[in-house]
Amino acid sequence: MNEIVSIGTNSAVLVVHDEIVHLENLNPGTTTDLEGLQFRTLSEAGGLLSRVVTMNDVHFGETSCGEIEGNIGGALQVEPGQDPYPEIMNRSACHDAQKLNPDAVIVKGDLTNAGKPEEFQAFLECYVGTFGDKVSYVRGNHDSYHAEGVADTPLQIIDVLGLRIILVDTARSGEVGGSLSTEQLLGIAEAALATNDTVIVMGHHPLVLPEAPADGHRSMNETDSQAFMNVAIRHKNIVAYTAGHTHRCRRVEVSGIAIIDVAAVKDFPGAFAEYQVREHGIVQLVHRASSKAALSWATRTSSMFAGLYRDYAMGDLTDRSFTLPRRQSS
Ligand SMILES: [Fe+2]
Repeated sequence: MNEIVSIGTNSAVLVVHDEIVHLENLNPGTTTDLEGLQFRTLSEAGGLLSRVVTMNDVHFGETSCGEIEGNIGGALQVEPGQDPYPEIMNRSACHDAQKLNPDAVIVKGDLTNAGKPEEFQAFLECYVGTFGDKVSYVRGNHDSYHAEGVADTPLQIIDVLGLRIILVDTARSGEVGGSLSTEQLLGIAEAALATNDTVIVMGHHPLVLPEAPADGHRSMNETDSQAFMNVAIRHKNIVAYTAGHTHRCRRVEVSGIAIIDVAAVKDFPGAFAEYQVREHGIVQLVHRASSKAALSWATRTSSMFAGLYRDYAMGDLTDRSFTLPRRQSS
């Protein structure tokens, strides 16, 4: 099935005849017809300053998926003798992301299935092995639920040209849901105040707000979500909060701040997000792991949860492709 994955100002990511196709050198704000797909590129956002890639829900060590409360549709596993699917999906995503030549790579949680040392080691081998010191990472609930001390740095600051990323640890030992401490909230405010650049805050758990409901997930608790918004609204250079955890693409605008979820690497759609920091905006594109083996696993897992997973995980095109404002603090 041919489909549109995401559209930038001058590029597009498509699925054409079961392969991922990247179109480059398109003109902003123009319409293209290709293989029955019609799409319009985003409006001009100026020259490229830097590029950030972010993955989440990579789940090294996981051996079956598709089970959720009630086990709708049954679990999927790789055939005996095949590589574990987290290896297949992450190897492909890293290879694809490396071709974008990112200035920074951020992995925002669920690095492992259960926080085991060998699972974390497999994560490091893949990601640090590919990106070296360009990669930063933080834990999610899968890393913290059964284990402690895995990737639990409370707050990290990553600067690229034109953008400051504040990466926060929202996971807590033994808990599925997420939290932000007073120290972390103060740290976010301080880090935003200390730069004139645009800021995106990243963590594993999505915020839960009246405008961005939990939809059945145990995400960030509502008190801390609102406390974050109070900080973000006071610092006009904070333009977005991006997370994983829900394994779906979603974007909701709340008080001028984009609340973003990005789908998982480890199964359908094999997603990772690219942020192109441009002179007049930050363009998000979602990519899909493109190797033959990755696409094959993604196709198998797209039918999980009684066939509902495909639409749920992909969201709408406007959940995947958009331009964030490049607001500065002054
Ligand atoms: Fe996850």
